[in-house]
Amino acid sequence: MRLIEDPSELASPAFHACGFVPTMGALHEGHASLVKRAAEAGRPVIVSIFVNPTQFGPNEDYGRYPRTLDADCALLEPLGVAGVFVPAVEAIYPEGLDASRAVAASLALPEVATQPGLEDSCRPGHLAGVALVVGRLFDLVGASAAYFGEKDYQQLRLIEDMVATDPARFAGLRVVACPTIRERDGLAMSSRNRYLKADERDAALALARALQIAHSAQRVATAERLMRETLDAHGLETEYAVIRDARTLRPVGGFELPTRALIAARLGATRLIDNAAMTVWR
Ligand code: PAF
Repeated sequence: MRLIEDPSELASPAFHACGFVPTMGALHEGHASLVKRAAEAGRPVIVSIFVNPTQFGPNEDYGRYPRTLDADCALLEPLGVAGVFVPAVEAIYPEGLDASRAVAASLALPEVATQPGLEDSCRPGHLAGVALVVGRLFDLVGASAAYFGEKDYQQLRLIEDMVATDPARFAGLRVVACPTIRERDGLAMSSRNRYLKADERDAALALARALQIAHSAQRVATAERLMRETLDAHGLETEYAVIRDARTLRPVGGFELPTRALIAARLGATRLIDNAAMTVWR
């Protein structure tokens, strides 16, 4: 497994048409599942580890985001990863951070990243920063497929649309959506789970419980109310708990379309998100 700092090394024939798993490190079994899925294609797998400053707001956790490179490499090595790309900030943003934030702010994002009023409203600038870094990583890595978890569902939909609407730039690249990996008790795996204090760990399960309870509702409004009540009952502060069109993430009148339940809630200093496909009632 090669540790790659210099982007020019990615041009090596050893990485041609690779499978690509972009990450911010602090890896867990959810990331491992993406790598395993990429490896199934029989192509070399490149994992990037880059804590991307442009996707964090000024009051967010960029500074304290866990950086655990040794443990990350220990997790990746047995999975047969060909290369771990660990660029410096200057390699991704040679124009400097202020200028690159301005570039992010000027991107024409797909509607799914600007219209739903979910992460786009709660974390202004976040999805633009994701689009900027993922586009640049795609340009550098030249992969044939890139693997993303459904846990960050709006991010996944953004990247799917970004790639689909710019076939000239992203020619030959397939975006592969992979299921959220959960702890045995249902908690969606996340690098931010390590922020949770022991007594918060149980309360965090409210997100998975709320999604489960939403399945029992026959109306969107009921599902949304039940989700909020579940989050409230566990002392979480709800940012959103909604049922949306699974493709556009816009509000829906009923469960007829493929719909998705999406939640963001705060538990102390930690912000948690989760989502699930919703059953269609007939
Ligand atoms: O999901 C993540 O870890 C990040 O948002 C990503 C896609 C690696 C971009 O920094």
